Amino acid sequence: MLPQLLALSLALAPNVVSAAIFPEGSLVKMIDHKGFKDAMKQNMTSVVAFVAPWCGHCQRLAPEYSRAALGLYPLIPLYAVDCDNSKNKRLCADQGVKGFPTLKLYPRGKKMAAIEYDGQERTASAFFYWATRAVPVKVKKIKELDDIAKWAVEGISKPRALLMNKSNKMPLLWTVLNNKYKDQIIFASHRDRKGRDSVKLGFEAGPEKSPKVLIYPEGDTKPVKYDGLMKFDSLSKFFDSLLDGSVDLTLLNQESAKEEFIPTPEELDIEQRQEAEMLKLAHGGYAEMIDFEKAVKDGSAKNFHGENGFPGMMGGKPQQPAAEKVEEGVKEAPMSQTETGHPTTPAPTPTPTEAPPAADPTPPTEPSVVVQEPVVVEETKATEPGRTAAPTATAKESKEHVKEEL
Ligand SMILES: *[C@@H]1O[C@H](CO)[C@@H](O)[C@H](O)[C@H]1NC(C)=O
Ligand SMILES: *[C@@H]1O[C@H](CO)[C@@H](O)[C@H](O)[C@H]1NC(C)=O
Repeated sequence: MLPQLLALSLALAPNVVSAAIFPEGSLVKMIDHKGFKDAMKQNMTSVVAFVAPWCGHCQRLAPEYSRAALGLYPLIPLYAVDCDNSKNKRLCADQGVKGFPTLKLYPRGKKMAAIEYDGQERTASAFFYWATRAVPVKVKKIKELDDIAKWAVEGISKPRALLMNKSNKMPLLWTVLNNKYKDQIIFASHRDRKGRDSVKLGFEAGPEKSPKVLIYPEGDTKPVKYDGLMKFDSLSKFFDSLLDGSVDLTLLNQESAKEEFIPTPEELDIEQRQEAEMLKLAHGGYAEMIDFEKAVKDGSAKNFHGENGFPGMMGGKPQQPAAEKVEEGVKEAPMSQTETGHPTTPAPTPTPTEAPPAADPTPPTEPSVVVQEPVVVEETKATEPGRTAAPTATAKESKEHVKEEL
């Protein structure tokens, strides 16, 4: 009881920094108006939660949002903006924030219109699905081997990247890279069940089930096999240099091949937490993250160390003991996705340590929390349940917002 009371009083302390609503070690990045600008320049799918530290709904959202951030790291960054901070008020108004929390997904930086989250469920798995499905551009799947040559010729004026793998499933990493480098690099994938197509293209069949990335330099129809790590940051670095045009592809590839698989303590920590999170959320929709489950079952995961990275990896995960647990978890809780893609099994309840402060009252009593924000008190009742009206400069404006919402 005591820790909960403590958490609550901390959350309600007037000078509390907004980051305090997110659990310690959360991968949700607090950004201000400048950070928002930088984030939008990245051409990435990202999510921003517009919050206020005093808002109870935001405090309840925080642990779930953090778990989603962990699951999506580093492929889809999750940010938060404290709209209570005077520096950010303009940004929040510009983004049309009328209540807290407001979750907005930016499919490709500022290049596409934002999508507001309107789901009923504010759970980690709901956010996770929402974000993964919103990555806008689909990767072309090349079914026939003969069509690869055609594809390579068609896109000759740009570099092209082809993922070859036994599985037909599109990894989120590839979709995310495709979105990030849209207009710059052409992505595709080809199912190579037994490695035979790799051989026909002049490469080794390679270890079973290990993905291959073939790079076609601009102006060339002959591919080079990428020798680096199958990780988001490694591939991004490689593609950036490729686009730079300053480096010879062979040299670039040699350099990538030299990159060793030495995770920093921080990466290790994130990896372990991701693993734990996947186990917990096996019901709720992290199954997309556990692509490696089959590899674990047939033992091929043993070789993954050194070949595959962690967060944002393609292929497998190195750690055998934890992976065995995943296998069990999956057996007990098979994927429960309907056609529409919404998880039908409710997400598991958060563990006690993650539970939001229990003492937090239900919405109708919330205005009492906001005493220092007299403007809000009046409107809170009028907004939709699960949201607190955003305080605006004047009471008049606020009323207008409320009217719009009704
Ligand atoms: C974003 O994409 C545009 C082309 O659509 C490109 O010119 C720009 O360099 C990209 N920015 C980053 C940070 O990759
Ligand atoms: C490659 O295929 C294997 C086996 O089907 C699968 O476990 C793995 O996730 C796939 N990797 C990628 C990058 O698609």
